[in-house]
Amino acid sequence: MKESRLNVFITGCSTGIGRSLLNEFCGKEFRVFASVRQSKFEDFKASLTGRLCEVIPYALDVTDLDNGTEVINDIHTIYGPIDILINNAGISYRTVIEEMCDRDEALQMATNYFGPMHLIRLVLPVMRKRRKGRIINISSVGGMMAMPTMAAYSASKFALEGASEALWYEVRPFGIHVSLVRPGFVNSNAFRKVKYSRGTDPEDNKGAYANHYRHMSTFIEKITTRTPCTPESAARTIYKVSQMKHPPLRIAGTPDASFFSYLRRILPRRFYHWLLYRSLPGIKTWGKAPDHE
Ligand SMILES: NC(=O)c1ccc[n+]([C@@H]2O[C@H](COP(=O)([O-])OP(=O)(O)OC[C@H]3O[C@@H](n4cnc5c(N)ncnc54)[C@H](OP(=O)(O)O)[C@@H]3O)[C@@H](O)[C@H]2O)c1
Repeated sequence: MKESRLNVFITGCSTGIGRSLLNEFCGKEFRVFASVRQSKFEDFKASLTGRLCEVIPYALDVTDLDNGTEVINDIHTIYGPIDILINNAGISYRTVIEEMCDRDEALQMATNYFGPMHLIRLVLPVMRKRRKGRIINISSVGGMMAMPTMAAYSASKFALEGASEALWYEVRPFGIHVSLVRPGFVNSNAFRKVKYSRGTDPEDNKGAYANHYRHMSTFIEKITTRTPCTPESAARTIYKVSQMKHPPLRIAGTPDASFFSYLRRILPRRFYHWLLYRSLPGIKTWGKAPDHE
């Protein structure tokens, strides 16, 4: 008998948008392969007991390319082709370029860019032969506009955006859809898990960029905790994209992302940069002695 369920593979399902995506696909006509890092695997598996839908957990660190190869090969062998790949796992460094260390920058790129690209390369041959499939990469407003202290994060999402755009052209003749969903501010744990390279944590930072960190950090925390956008609402948008007959290449993941995209499109670029600079939180204190001294 022909299998009617579609196979969906999602990375980074331990929490946040990934976890909500898993819930969104559950109970519908899908078999969901949900991956989390090894350290979360047992708890994650336990959290799935009693679910009526079919969720198959996998341990995957997206920066471990061999691990990615094993997981995708395993799914292809046991369950058949992956219909929808959702590259959701991501991390975010909040450190200015001068203070970013190479190792952390490499980790930022490995997680948000090289890992997803590797998974895409693994699913593409099968999708191409079947002449169908969907790849959804979770980008960010940070993949459209760069903000101070978030250079490495933006670089990783800009890279994801550029590669996805090229891929869109490359695989369209094979009937494969590529989409980038760009959430703006989402009230998830992501901002609590934000990483600081080389001890640049704003809590005890007295360096030249102390005010950059302090103001950006307070500002982002304020918006992220007050926004009505939740991992659930972002996941609903991503799910809708996965169901569109002709999904667009770029889709705003939250209403603020639509607004930022609109601003970026309509404002003359020089004015846009001037306006954004003037609007940065506490900008008049940046480059001066730390506020708290
Ligand atoms: N939250 C926002 O405001 C926002 C805005 C724009 C875009 N996004 C994007 O949305 C996606 C999901 O973010 P979120 O808000 O749900 O953040 P989150 O709550 O921090 O979740 C991130 C997920 O990625 C996983 N992950 C991190 N590094 C990994 C690795 N090396 N291998 C496998 N999994 C890894 C995390 O696993 P662990 O639990 O093991 O750390 C977690 O499951 C990310 O790509 C993020 O850049 C988020």
